[in-house]
Amino acid sequence: MTADHAAHPHEEHESRYREGDAAAWDRPLRDTELYDPARRDVYNFIDETKVRYLRPMLPPAGNAIEVGAGSGRLLIRLGQERPYRLVALDYAPYSVRAVRENLRRSALPGDALFGDALALPFADASFDVVLSGGLLEHFREPGEVIREMARVLRPAGLFYADIVPRKVSLYRWAERTRMAHDEHLAKGIYESDFPKRAWARLARESGLRDVRIVSAGVYPPYTRPGFEQLLWRYPGFFRALDGTPVADVLGFFYMLTGRK
Ligand SMILES: C[S@@+](CC[C@H](N)C(=O)[O-])C[C@H]1O[C@@H](n2cnc3c(N)ncnc32)[C@H](O)[C@@H]1O
Repeated sequence: MTADHAAHPHEEHESRYREGDAAAWDRPLRDTELYDPARRDVYNFIDETKVRYLRPMLPPAGNAIEVGAGSGRLLIRLGQERPYRLVALDYAPYSVRAVRENLRRSALPGDALFGDALALPFADASFDVVLSGGLLEHFREPGEVIREMARVLRPAGLFYADIVPRKVSLYRWAERTRMAHDEHLAKGIYESDFPKRAWARLARESGLRDVRIVSAGVYPPYTRPGFEQLLWRYPGFFRALDGTPVADVLGFFYMLTGRK
Protein backbone atom coordinates (compact mmCIF):
# COMPACT_ATOMS: atom_id res chain seq x y z
CA MET A 1 0.00 0.00 0.00
CA THR A 2 1.74 2.81 1.09
CA ALA A 3 0.68 1.47 -0.11
CA ASP A 4 3.49 3.32 -2.19
CA HIS A 5 1.87 0.58 -1.42
CA ALA A 6 -1.11 2.59 -1.41
CA ALA A 7 -0.75 3.20 -4.99
CA HIS A 8 -1.00 6.65 -6.38
CA PRO A 9 -0.09 8.42 -9.53
CA HIS A 10 2.60 6.17 -10.85
CA GLU A 11 5.92 7.89 -10.92
CA GLU A 12 8.73 7.85 -13.39
CA HIS A 13 10.97 5.52 -11.38
CA GLU A 14 8.19 2.98 -11.14
CA SER A 15 8.06 2.39 -14.85
CA ARG A 16 11.35 0.53 -14.40
CA TYR A 17 9.83 -1.91 -11.94
CA ARG A 18 10.14 -5.61 -12.73
CA GLU A 19 9.03 -8.43 -10.52
CA GLY A 20 12.09 -9.86 -8.81
CA ASP A 21 14.40 -6.96 -9.75
CA ALA A 22 15.68 -5.22 -6.61
CA ALA A 23 17.64 -2.60 -8.57
CA ALA A 24 14.48 -1.44 -10.31
CA TRP A 25 12.92 -0.64 -6.92
CA ASP A 26 15.83 1.44 -5.77
CA ARG A 27 15.42 5.22 -5.64
CA PRO A 28 16.01 8.22 -3.41
CA LEU A 29 13.91 8.46 -0.23
CA ARG A 30 10.71 10.50 -0.43
CA ASP A 31 9.75 12.97 2.26
CA THR A 32 6.38 11.25 2.58
CA GLU A 33 7.96 8.00 3.72
CA LEU A 34 10.01 9.58 6.49
CA TYR A 35 8.45 8.82 9.83
CA ASP A 36 6.50 11.82 11.14
CA PRO A 37 3.16 10.76 12.61
CA ALA A 38 2.09 14.39 13.03
CA ARG A 39 2.00 15.00 9.26
CA ARG A 40 -1.61 15.09 8.09
CA ASP A 41 -1.18 13.35 4.78
CA VAL A 42 -2.91 10.36 3.26
CA TYR A 43 -0.05 8.01 4.15
CA ASN A 44 -0.35 8.69 7.86
CA PHE A 45 -4.13 8.40 7.57
CA ILE A 46 -3.75 4.96 6.03
CA ASP A 47 -1.11 3.85 8.56
CA GLU A 48 -3.33 4.94 11.42
CA THR A 49 -6.28 3.11 9.88
CA LYS A 50 -4.28 -0.11 9.76
CA VAL A 51 -3.04 0.25 13.34
CA ARG A 52 -6.60 0.83 14.59
CA TYR A 53 -7.74 -2.27 12.73
CA LEU A 54 -4.90 -4.45 14.04
CA ARG A 55 -4.78 -3.16 17.63
CA PRO A 56 -7.27 -5.70 19.08
CA MET A 57 -5.44 -8.60 17.41
CA LEU A 58 -1.85 -7.74 18.36
CA PRO A 59 0.08 -10.21 20.53
CA PRO A 60 1.30 -8.54 23.73
CA ALA A 61 5.03 -8.97 22.97
CA GLY A 62 7.52 -10.89 20.82
CA ASN A 63 9.23 -10.54 17.44
CA ALA A 64 7.63 -8.68 14.54
CA ILE A 65 8.81 -8.61 10.93
CA GLU A 66 7.69 -6.51 7.96
CA VAL A 67 8.47 -8.21 4.65
CA GLY A 68 9.08 -5.90 1.67
CA ALA A 69 9.24 -3.21 4.33
CA GLY A 70 9.87 -0.14 2.15
CA SER A 71 9.94 2.65 4.73
CA GLY A 72 9.00 0.28 7.57
CA ARG A 73 6.51 2.82 8.87
CA LEU A 74 3.77 0.34 9.70
CA LEU A 75 6.23 -1.89 11.55
CA ILE A 76 7.43 1.10 13.57
CA ARG A 77 3.87 2.06 14.44
CA LEU A 78 3.27 -1.46 15.73
CA GLY A 79 6.50 -1.16 17.71
CA GLN A 80 4.95 1.83 19.42
CA GLU A 81 1.86 -0.19 20.29
CA ARG A 82 3.69 -3.16 21.81
CA PRO A 83 7.27 -3.88 22.96
CA TYR A 84 8.17 -5.93 19.88
CA ARG A 85 11.63 -6.73 18.65
CA LEU A 86 11.40 -5.15 15.17
CA VAL A 87 12.85 -6.62 11.99
CA ALA A 88 12.37 -5.02 8.56
CA LEU A 89 13.35 -6.99 5.47
CA ASP A 90 13.55 -5.77 1.87
CA TYR A 91 15.74 -6.51 -1.12
CA ALA A 92 16.19 -2.87 -2.24
CA PRO A 93 18.86 -0.62 -0.70
CA TYR A 94 16.53 2.40 -0.46
CA SER A 95 14.42 0.49 2.03
CA VAL A 96 17.30 -0.35 4.33
CA ARG A 97 18.26 3.34 4.32
CA ALA A 98 14.65 4.41 4.93
CA VAL A 99 14.03 1.95 7.77
CA ARG A 100 17.26 2.92 9.53
CA GLU A 101 16.34 6.58 9.26
CA ASN A 102 12.78 5.93 10.47
CA LEU A 103 13.97 3.84 13.42
CA ARG A 104 16.25 6.72 14.34
CA ARG A 105 13.38 9.21 14.05
CA SER A 106 11.06 7.08 16.16
CA ALA A 107 13.81 6.28 18.71
CA LEU A 108 12.91 2.58 18.54
CA PRO A 109 15.49 -0.21 18.32
CA GLY A 110 15.24 -2.57 15.38
CA ASP A 111 17.03 -4.21 12.46
CA ALA A 112 16.83 -3.45 8.74
CA LEU A 113 17.97 -6.42 6.69
CA PHE A 114 18.48 -7.24 3.03
CA GLY A 115 16.58 -10.33 2.02
CA ASP A 116 14.21 -11.92 -0.49
CA ALA A 117 10.55 -12.34 0.39
CA LEU A 118 10.58 -15.62 -1.55
CA ALA A 119 13.30 -17.13 0.69
CA LEU A 120 13.13 -15.52 4.12
CA PRO A 121 16.43 -16.03 5.98
CA PHE A 122 14.76 -17.22 9.19
CA ALA A 123 13.87 -20.53 10.79
CA ASP A 124 10.28 -21.74 10.87
CA ALA A 125 8.15 -20.18 13.61
CA SER A 126 10.51 -17.26 14.38
CA PHE A 127 8.00 -14.41 14.64
CA ASP A 128 4.86 -13.51 16.59
CA VAL A 129 3.75 -10.96 13.95
CA VAL A 130 4.49 -11.17 10.22
CA LEU A 131 3.24 -8.36 8.04
CA SER A 132 3.52 -6.83 4.61
CA GLY A 133 2.08 -3.69 3.10
CA GLY A 134 1.72 -3.26 -0.63
CA LEU A 135 3.95 -6.22 -1.39
CA LEU A 136 1.81 -9.15 -2.48
CA GLU A 137 0.20 -7.44 -5.45
CA HIS A 138 3.60 -7.21 -7.14
CA PHE A 139 3.91 -10.99 -7.63
CA ARG A 140 2.43 -13.19 -10.30
CA GLU A 141 2.35 -16.04 -7.79
CA PRO A 142 1.81 -14.31 -4.44
CA GLY A 143 1.04 -17.64 -2.76
CA GLU A 144 4.78 -18.31 -2.65
CA VAL A 145 5.34 -15.20 -0.54
CA ILE A 146 2.36 -15.91 1.70
CA ARG A 147 3.69 -19.43 2.34
CA GLU A 148 7.08 -18.02 3.33
CA MET A 149 5.45 -15.47 5.63
CA ALA A 150 3.31 -18.20 7.21
CA ARG A 151 6.34 -20.47 7.59
CA VAL A 152 8.25 -18.00 9.76
CA LEU A 153 5.14 -17.24 11.86
CA ARG A 154 4.79 -18.89 15.27
CA PRO A 155 1.67 -20.91 16.11
CA ALA A 156 -1.05 -18.44 17.19
CA GLY A 157 0.98 -15.57 15.72
CA LEU A 158 -0.67 -12.79 13.69
CA PHE A 159 -0.39 -12.55 9.89
CA TYR A 160 -1.29 -9.25 8.22
CA ALA A 161 -1.01 -8.08 4.63
CA ASP A 162 -2.57 -5.20 2.78
CA ILE A 163 -3.01 -5.45 -0.94
CA VAL A 164 -3.91 -3.04 -3.72
CA PRO A 165 -6.30 -4.67 -6.20
CA ARG A 166 -6.67 -3.55 -9.78
CA LYS A 167 -10.18 -2.23 -9.46
CA VAL A 168 -12.06 1.01 -9.75
CA SER A 169 -12.04 3.04 -6.54
CA LEU A 170 -13.08 6.52 -5.56
CA TYR A 171 -9.57 7.43 -4.45
CA ARG A 172 -8.04 6.37 -7.76
CA TRP A 173 -10.98 7.48 -9.89
CA ALA A 174 -8.59 9.17 -12.31
CA GLU A 175 -7.12 5.75 -13.13
CA ARG A 176 -10.41 3.98 -13.88
CA THR A 177 -9.84 3.79 -17.62
CA ARG A 178 -6.42 2.26 -17.19
CA MET A 179 -7.80 -0.12 -14.59
CA ALA A 180 -10.43 -1.28 -17.04
CA HIS A 181 -8.17 -1.69 -20.06
CA ASP A 182 -4.47 -2.09 -19.29
CA GLU A 183 -3.42 -5.45 -18.11
CA HIS A 184 -0.57 -4.01 -16.07
CA LEU A 185 1.47 -0.84 -16.15
CA ALA A 186 4.48 -1.10 -18.44
CA LYS A 187 5.90 -4.55 -17.78
CA GLY A 188 5.61 -4.33 -14.04
CA ILE A 189 2.80 -5.48 -11.80
CA TYR A 190 1.31 -2.75 -9.65
CA GLU A 191 -2.05 -4.13 -8.68
CA SER A 192 -3.44 -7.59 -8.35
CA ASP A 193 -6.27 -9.01 -10.42
CA PHE A 194 -7.17 -11.47 -7.64
CA PRO A 195 -10.56 -10.97 -6.00
CA LYS A 196 -10.90 -11.01 -2.20
CA ARG A 197 -11.88 -14.66 -2.04
CA ALA A 198 -8.71 -15.70 -3.91
CA TRP A 199 -6.55 -13.99 -1.27
CA ALA A 200 -8.46 -15.68 1.52
CA ARG A 201 -7.99 -19.03 -0.19
CA LEU A 202 -4.24 -18.49 -0.62
CA ALA A 203 -3.96 -17.61 3.07
CA ARG A 204 -5.85 -20.75 4.14
CA GLU A 205 -3.80 -22.92 1.80
CA SER A 206 -0.68 -21.54 3.49
CA GLY A 207 -1.83 -22.93 6.82
CA LEU A 208 -3.48 -19.81 8.25
CA ARG A 209 -6.79 -19.95 10.11
CA ASP A 210 -9.28 -17.28 11.22
CA VAL A 211 -8.63 -15.69 7.84
CA ARG A 212 -10.43 -12.42 7.29
CA ILE A 213 -10.22 -9.97 4.42
CA VAL A 214 -11.91 -6.59 4.34
CA SER A 215 -12.07 -3.82 1.78
CA ALA A 216 -10.98 -0.39 2.95
CA GLY A 217 -9.98 3.06 1.76
CA VAL A 218 -13.07 4.85 0.47
CA TYR A 219 -11.31 8.18 0.19
CA PRO A 220 -11.88 11.30 -1.92
CA PRO A 221 -10.14 11.18 -5.32
CA TYR A 222 -6.47 12.04 -4.98
CA THR A 223 -6.90 14.48 -7.88
CA ARG A 224 -9.32 16.58 -5.81
CA PRO A 225 -7.49 19.58 -4.28
CA GLY A 226 -7.62 19.36 -0.49
CA PHE A 227 -8.49 15.66 -0.37
CA GLU A 228 -6.09 15.09 2.54
CA GLN A 229 -7.63 17.90 4.58
CA LEU A 230 -11.02 16.32 3.97
CA LEU A 231 -9.79 12.94 5.20
CA TRP A 232 -8.35 14.37 8.38
CA ARG A 233 -11.41 16.56 9.00
CA TYR A 234 -13.82 13.59 8.90
CA PRO A 235 -11.68 10.56 9.83
CA GLY A 236 -14.55 8.75 11.55
CA PHE A 237 -16.77 9.04 8.51
CA PHE A 238 -14.18 7.63 6.10
CA ARG A 239 -13.07 4.86 8.46
CA ALA A 240 -16.66 3.82 9.17
CA LEU A 241 -16.90 2.74 5.54
CA ASP A 242 -14.05 0.22 5.89
CA GLY A 243 -15.33 -3.35 5.90
CA THR A 244 -18.69 -2.38 4.38
CA PRO A 245 -20.16 -3.21 0.93
CA VAL A 246 -19.48 0.42 -0.01
CA ALA A 247 -15.77 -0.29 0.45
CA ASP A 248 -16.07 -3.45 -1.68
CA VAL A 249 -17.17 -1.20 -4.54
CA LEU A 250 -15.30 2.07 -3.90
CA GLY A 251 -12.37 1.18 -1.62
CA PHE A 252 -8.85 0.88 -2.93
CA PHE A 253 -7.11 -1.65 -0.70
CA TYR A 254 -7.73 -4.91 1.13
CA MET A 255 -6.60 -5.84 4.63
CA LEU A 256 -5.96 -9.56 5.09
CA THR A 257 -5.42 -11.12 8.51
CA GLY A 258 -5.02 -14.65 9.83
CA ARG A 259 -3.56 -16.73 12.65
CA LYS A 260 -1.21 -19.65 12.33
C1 LIG B 1 5.30 -0.74 -2.50
S1 LIG B 1 6.68 -1.08 -1.55
C2 LIG B 1 6.17 -1.30 0.11
C3 LIG B 1 5.97 -0.07 0.81
C4 LIG B 1 5.93 -0.17 2.31
N1 LIG B 1 4.79 -0.89 2.79
C5 LIG B 1 5.97 1.23 2.88
O1 LIG B 1 5.07 1.61 3.63
O2 LIG B 1 6.91 1.94 2.58
C6 LIG B 1 7.08 -2.74 -1.96
C7 LIG B 1 8.43 -3.12 -1.38
O3 LIG B 1 8.63 -4.50 -1.60
C8 LIG B 1 9.98 -4.71 -1.90
N2 LIG B 1 10.09 -6.00 -2.59
C9 LIG B 1 9.52 -6.35 -3.77
N3 LIG B 1 9.84 -7.62 -4.09
C10 LIG B 1 10.59 -8.08 -3.04
C11 LIG B 1 11.23 -9.32 -2.78
N4 LIG B 1 11.14 -10.36 -3.63
N5 LIG B 1 11.92 -9.45 -1.64
C12 LIG B 1 12.05 -8.41 -0.77
N6 LIG B 1 11.48 -7.21 -0.97
C13 LIG B 1 10.76 -7.05 -2.10
C14 LIG B 1 10.39 -3.51 -2.74
O4 LIG B 1 11.78 -3.30 -2.71
C15 LIG B 1 9.60 -2.40 -2.04
O5 LIG B 1 10.36 -1.77 -1.05
